[in-house]
Amino acid sequence: MYSNLSKWSIDPDKVKQLVKSHYGIRGEIRTLPGEIDLNFKITISDNLHFVFKISPPGVDLNHLDFQYKILQYLNGNEAPQVIADVSQNPTPYFYDNQGQKRYMRLLSWISGRLWSDVNPHTENLRFSLGVCCGSLTQRLHSFDHPHAHRKFEWDLSQGSWVEDHFTLFDSHQKSILQPFLDSFKHFQKEYQELRKSVVHNDANDNNIIVSESLIDPQVQSLIDFGDAVYTQSINDLAICCAYALMNVPDPLEASLSIVKGYHHAFPLDENEITFLYTLIGLRLVVSVTKSAINKIEFPSNDYLSISERPAWELLEKWAAINADFAYFRFREACGLEPHPSYTVFTTWANRENISLKALFPTLEKTLVFPLDLSVSSTWVGGEEAFNDLDYFQFKIDQIQKQQEDKLIAGGYLEPRSLYTSETYDKYGNEGLEKRCIHLGLDFWVPPSTPIHSFYDGEVVMAFNDKGEKAYGGMIVLRHTVNGLVFYSLYGHLSIHSIGQVQIGKKIAKGKCVGWIGTAMENGNWAPHLHFQIILDLIGFQNDFPGVAYHKQIRTWQSLCPDPNLLFKSANLGVSKKTNSESLIQDRKAYLGRGMSLQYRTPLHIVRGSGVFLVDQNGRHYLDMVNNVAHVGHEHPRVVKAGQLQMGQLNTNTRYLHENITRLAKRLIDTLPEELSVVHFVNSGSEANELALRMIKTVTGSEQILACESGYHGNTNACIDMSSYKFDGKGGSGKPDHVHIFPIPDTFKGKYRGADAASEYVGELVNQIEGLKQQQKKLGGVIIEPIISCGGQIELPNGFLKGAFSEVRKAGGLCVVDEVQTGCGRVGSRFWGFQLHDVIPDIITIGKPLGNGHPIAAVVCTPEVASQFNNGMEFFNTFGGNPVSCAIAHEVLKVITDEKLQENALNIGSFLKSGLQDLAEKHPILGNVRGQGLFLGVEFVDENLQPLAAQADYLINRMKTFGVLLSTDGPSQNVIKIKPPLVFSMQNAIYFLNHFALILQEDLMKLRK
Ligand SMILES: Cc1ncc(COP(=O)(O)O)c(C=O)c1O
Repeated sequence: MYSNLSKWSIDPDKVKQLVKSHYGIRGEIRTLPGEIDLNFKITISDNLHFVFKISPPGVDLNHLDFQYKILQYLNGNEAPQVIADVSQNPTPYFYDNQGQKRYMRLLSWISGRLWSDVNPHTENLRFSLGVCCGSLTQRLHSFDHPHAHRKFEWDLSQGSWVEDHFTLFDSHQKSILQPFLDSFKHFQKEYQELRKSVVHNDANDNNIIVSESLIDPQVQSLIDFGDAVYTQSINDLAICCAYALMNVPDPLEASLSIVKGYHHAFPLDENEITFLYTLIGLRLVVSVTKSAINKIEFPSNDYLSISERPAWELLEKWAAINADFAYFRFREACGLEPHPSYTVFTTWANRENISLKALFPTLEKTLVFPLDLSVSSTWVGGEEAFNDLDYFQFKIDQIQKQQEDKLIAGGYLEPRSLYTSETYDKYGNEGLEKRCIHLGLDFWVPPSTPIHSFYDGEVVMAFNDKGEKAYGGMIVLRHTVNGLVFYSLYGHLSIHSIGQVQIGKKIAKGKCVGWIGTAMENGNWAPHLHFQIILDLIGFQNDFPGVAYHKQIRTWQSLCPDPNLLFKSANLGVSKKTNSESLIQDRKAYLGRGMSLQYRTPLHIVRGSGVFLVDQNGRHYLDMVNNVAHVGHEHPRVVKAGQLQMGQLNTNTRYLHENITRLAKRLIDTLPEELSVVHFVNSGSEANELALRMIKTVTGSEQILACESGYHGNTNACIDMSSYKFDGKGGSGKPDHVHIFPIPDTFKGKYRGADAASEYVGELVNQIEGLKQQQKKLGGVIIEPIISCGGQIELPNGFLKGAFSEVRKAGGLCVVDEVQTGCGRVGSRFWGFQLHDVIPDIITIGKPLGNGHPIAAVVCTPEVASQFNNGMEFFNTFGGNPVSCAIAHEVLKVITDEKLQENALNIGSFLKSGLQDLAEKHPILGNVRGQGLFLGVEFVDENLQPLAAQADYLINRMKTFGVLLSTDGPSQNVIKIKPPLVFSMQNAIYFLNHFALILQEDLMKLRK
């Protein structure tokens, strides 16, 4: 070890001269970091670089030769090539100014970035790291060299030396380190029998070269073979993992893609996999021991302890992982059955024929009624419904009445939304993860029902697992069958049951295990038995998971096999749900191709709940785009209002019904007195259609002024005035009666700056003048108060006032499209137009009014209404029906009762200022704008050119962390933010934290 490299440093002029004289090359010299050698990057041209290495005095020539031979053997595959000097010597030397002999090497430069400089480290990248390391191990398998068999502290197989230095650590640290060493020593005999070969042995962050691509980079090569050694081949994977897993929230999950990649290139055998967990730990132990020694020996050399802190952090996390569970996960990653005894168990279970009566001898039931409690089950209902114990029990009782002779049961591997307490949540590598895959079978039987043992067993756990949504009384039995050990778990028992057994008590087949508990003692569930088979307790002593994370489903399925393998009941099978792939195929077959799906991998959403959308596997996505689910997805009050009215009456508006007038009054109460007449329709497009009809009837003209990049609906007439559509893909330009004025974008529009309003008004005046010259009368103007599809563009102060005044002077009507902005979303006002101190003649209302149910409205002045009423009846089959009106009325009430407008203002302001802070640090965020919970973030380069690829990348990365966003604006470079108004401070912080993380990623940096 060299304590002070600078003592042996060589100045750049000398380096220049050396490369010139020995290799005939001339280039720019840059120093690179290095632990032992002096390293330089020689740049000849933009595309031609080399690495020049100068060894310290006294270097071991065998060591140099070893490295040279490896690189020569690899011949540029996953490694650099050695370039010989002009006299064909691969390791020439010179004498430095202290008279010391110094050896040199010139290596080819592998273009790319160091792993340590790459952000993010995605699963794909980790997989490619595994592939690169595995390929290298594979290639080196038939290589050898005498120096590879040296004594070497960094060789994991020689790792026991660390124990002599454990005195450097405190007792907590020792308690983390010792088990890895103990396990390593304990299995030495088996370890010595593993495959051996020469391995790289040091795939650390600064030795891994990643391609330049910023979107899907791949590992290209490893460099620095100075630590290569002949040892157990698996050590190389362990070392690679030990470094690549630093600084990730969940290292075990992150390791799997590396293991998969490695196994893909260099298939591992079962014995090797057994050691992986310990070896990863041991490498970290060696690393922190080295750092501790170095700190004492070379206190001033920071490079030597560069990875100490992250190594300790990883060690703490790694030590907390159960070694057997890690082993099962690694087996899965290598394509093996995760639990090695799974097949033995299933073979035995298949031969057994156990009746359900064995479990419930007092019930005399063998048939099953399958109960679907999955995320997509409509029986389950919303959170309020399934958390209402009495209601849940009532529904169970209803089924039982109809299915008297059946056991109500089910749930194996079912993804459920029932686990709402925070104990089921964790923050993993991809943000919020919920444990929701049910691992046992539930039997919905009455409290006090006795449960009997289906097989001879011995009590290994008897425990009161207290807490909301926990097990309550829980007993686990161990069973042994011809050498196979497995366990059965009985959850939600009475507390009395626990008192009746002691650990070690034998319970023979047919004997009572315990009794079903009540809701008071079973974690607050409707009474039922949770019955689970377990092949390994993975370190649990007084608990065992009954639900698992979806991403680990395959491992858990193997660790906790299907209990129905024992009972073979026809109705207890794992339920088959439609998979996303077949839905995609069906869409292609049966739906119009213009109906696009969002995201490269489309989402299969089956449930909504507040600010969350939930996919078929129970993954929760924070919905930040859906301004339709205004008061939150499936708000229980709104759902109930619709359900009740639907059960009572739904008809058209030609009868008296209080729902329609009650809703009209409530709407009018939110508006200035001038806007006092309501017509109900079914969609925003229909509302704008009706507004157009009003204009035509009242003014006799169909000449319309509309905003550049505006969108007003999907009907013929609406598309005609939607420049976002007719100027976009597939559009055929504007029709003659529509006149488009420039979007009043003060950030990068035609006129910029806060006081550009009058210039934009001038543009409308020009249009009106043009019409006059053509002897045409103006019908009106339609505009949103914040232009949504145009990129969440806020109108400059005074613009709307000036524009309305000009339109009215020309005899036109002023229509404000509130389809996106209305009902409290903009925070400081209930309606968007109120931000601008104007009163329109007509407003159109859509999306939020029904919280997802199709109801929309047009509100106008009495003057407009009376002129529109020219004798022709306005009839709309569905518009204003009692169900829609009941729903919309409840939406308006919820907005008031839950103070959602205030929430939009408070959380919106917090979000906006958080985004503005980020924009200060990240120039790629050119502009943050909007009001309340209606915000936009524009991605631009230093010339204000749109950066759509970056915006798209960001929304896809946010999706990885479970946040749904989308892009908008004519260049698709604006991220729109318009979540349900129940968006909370906690949601805002989650969003901002992840947004900030992604902004640090490589593609987010502006490059010249
Ligand atoms: C501003 C605006 N107006 C009108 C509409 C049309 O509404 P709908 O899709 O309900 O017909 C939309 C829809 O996105 C809109 O954003």
